[in-house]
Amino acid sequence: MKPPSPSLALSGGPKAVTTPPSTGNRFSGNERRYLQETLRQNTLFYGFGSFVQKACKAMRRYTGLPYVVPCSSGTAAIHLGLIACGIGPGDEVICTPNTDAGTVIGILAEGAVPVFCDVDDTFQPSPRTIRAALTRRTRAVIVVHLAGYPAPVDAIIRLCRSRGLPVLEDCAQSWGTRLNGQLVGTFGLAGAFSTNDFKHISTGDGGFLALRDEALFRRTANYADKCYDRLFDRSLFGAHFGMNYRMTELQGAVALAQLEKVRRVTSHYHQLGTLLERHLADLPAGRLIPPLPNAYATYWWTALLPDYRHLKADRDTLVRALQAEGVPASSYGKYDLIQKPLFQTRVMRPWLKGWKRRYPFVQPDGRSYRYDYTTTPTHKKLLDEAIMLSPFGEFRTKDYIREVATGIRKVFHFFSGSS
Ligand SMILES: Cc1ncc(COP(=O)(O)O)c(C=O)c1O
Repeated sequence: MKPPSPSLALSGGPKAVTTPPSTGNRFSGNERRYLQETLRQNTLFYGFGSFVQKACKAMRRYTGLPYVVPCSSGTAAIHLGLIACGIGPGDEVICTPNTDAGTVIGILAEGAVPVFCDVDDTFQPSPRTIRAALTRRTRAVIVVHLAGYPAPVDAIIRLCRSRGLPVLEDCAQSWGTRLNGQLVGTFGLAGAFSTNDFKHISTGDGGFLALRDEALFRRTANYADKCYDRLFDRSLFGAHFGMNYRMTELQGAVALAQLEKVRRVTSHYHQLGTLLERHLADLPAGRLIPPLPNAYATYWWTALLPDYRHLKADRDTLVRALQAEGVPASSYGKYDLIQKPLFQTRVMRPWLKGWKRRYPFVQPDGRSYRYDYTTTPTHKKLLDEAIMLSPFGEFRTKDYIREVATGIRKVFHFFSGSS
């Protein structure tokens, strides 16, 4: 392997990134004011206060969908979405394996079975990869729009419609993301959003399910509130099983203030991401995740796909060289619970390995489910080869992104022999 040139920071040269990533207070809008008003209400319960309802109204305006269920997390929103899809014991639900545990927790909680489809080099599923995972037991498809990039959900819906399958969109990482000008989360039967503290907007924890159908709204709103039927005429009081997935007024107050700025925040992420893309357009021997045509991505993170045939370095060397330049880079797939395929993580592994409850992976009719990389080869290749980049954020500046691009160019030019 070629020794690093003196100009690389790895071998003592100057670092490309000298601007520290800037920070700021993400709760400096109306959050404090609304929180104080919430406390003055003398109730923090969504059924008595006004802030959760105001946040839902803001979500309805934001998505353009008529119904929104507030809830305690993105995981809860996805579980509610699965209830809207009518998922039950033994049903198969297709989703991608490179996602947070929250995508499959609702599937498992319903006694249903996650069936993992592959991704393309966009990190997203496609009609081709979903078709390969379909069986006669498939009852729904969850499309995860990963990292702020839209999946080809329109084409996936066309495929699913021909089979009568509902599509639930997991938009936890994709606030503000659009495909053909349409916001993700508004294509399928329902869109699930997370406001956990790591997302484009935060309420600490929280989530929303946005949907079109009034009956499904009632069903899911009741499921989120132990079937109290509180927002309706009480005629379904206790008629179904339900969880306590309620959002508190404190979360509602912060959600309202965060939703006031969601467009500005996600458009900032978009500008930073497209700037990085422009600066790396002619990168030798590597490229960023290719967004779909007609995509408006909001770059929660991105990844480099190096072409190792033209690089005199393996992934570890590249990552070390990038980190030395000050580029926030890491080997994709090293971090449990969000990058590793879910069947390799703590969520599913003990269960698959003989935990006393084998259901749903062994079904009463004897059918059993095994998980390995053979059905997801492209994802495996990304796990082995991709380099994750997390330079984006509400307070990150264009100058910082330009320096990150310089660091990446320096490393790739050096190891491809073109410097
Ligand atoms: C793609 C995806 N889906 C679901 C979730 C779950 O969201 P929450 O943490 O709000 O439960 C996350 C959170 O990281 C996520 O990234």
